[in-house]
Amino acid sequence: MEPSVFIAACSPRRGGNSDCAAEAARMALPVPAFVRRVADAGVRPCASCGHCLSHPGECALDGPGDGAAAIFGHVVRTRLTLIVSPVYFYHLPAQAKAWVDRSQCFWALPPSGKPAAGRVLSAILIGARERGEHLFDGAERSLRCMARVMGMDWHPALRLYGFDGPGALRDDSAAQGRIRSFAAAAWHMLEGREVRHAPSRAETAGMAR
Ligand SMILES: Cc1cc2nc3c(=O)[nH]c(=O)nc-3n(C[C@H](O)[C@H](O)[C@H](O)COP(=O)(O)O)c2cc1C
Repeated sequence: MEPSVFIAACSPRRGGNSDCAAEAARMALPVPAFVRRVADAGVRPCASCGHCLSHPGECALDGPGDGAAAIFGHVVRTRLTLIVSPVYFYHLPAQAKAWVDRSQCFWALPPSGKPAAGRVLSAILIGARERGEHLFDGAERSLRCMARVMGMDWHPALRLYGFDGPGALRDDSAAQGRIRSFAAAAWHMLEGREVRHAPSRAETAGMAR
């Protein structure tokens, strides 16, 4: 596992609020982090062919010309993945949702075989509406579901209301500050969890016997 963070920027719009938030998060992290744009990865949508039911962990769509496996590879190799996405009709944009759907290939794997066990998934979600209790619920539920099928832990998302034009977030230093704090806190939460979960000396001695 790489000691780094993967940031999946999920808007099809280049240089907009998600790309800005992804970069702000990257800069705030105390460890190496890298950004990839999911909409540019060429992920084909799940066709419900059933291949992964008989071959858990495999997808019939994987192969040259399809980008899903490469993005899942980043999730698997890093300790923390941050999804940064706008809300489209109360959910993720279609390109990002296609990628999330492709995690179905991990669904039939047993808990011991999940590819990203021990990793953490979280998100920064952005919407134009100023308010709305349920604005981010659809996106967040899907992402939590993806975390589960990959064996990951979910860290609750940062929800940003009221950002619409492509430069809206760039012009708001307070919101960028919230993003920086959130990203750093997500990383420190993960480190703290590992400290808390580290085996005690007695447990280690027990393991050695
Ligand atoms: C197709 C489409 C659907 C959208 N649906 C919603 C919505 O349901 N609720 C909302 O608050 N904003 C909605 N928006 C606005 C975007 O979430 C908002 O402009 C966001 O800041 C775009 O982020 P980006 O710059 O990273 O693309 C929608 C935008 C588009 C293009």
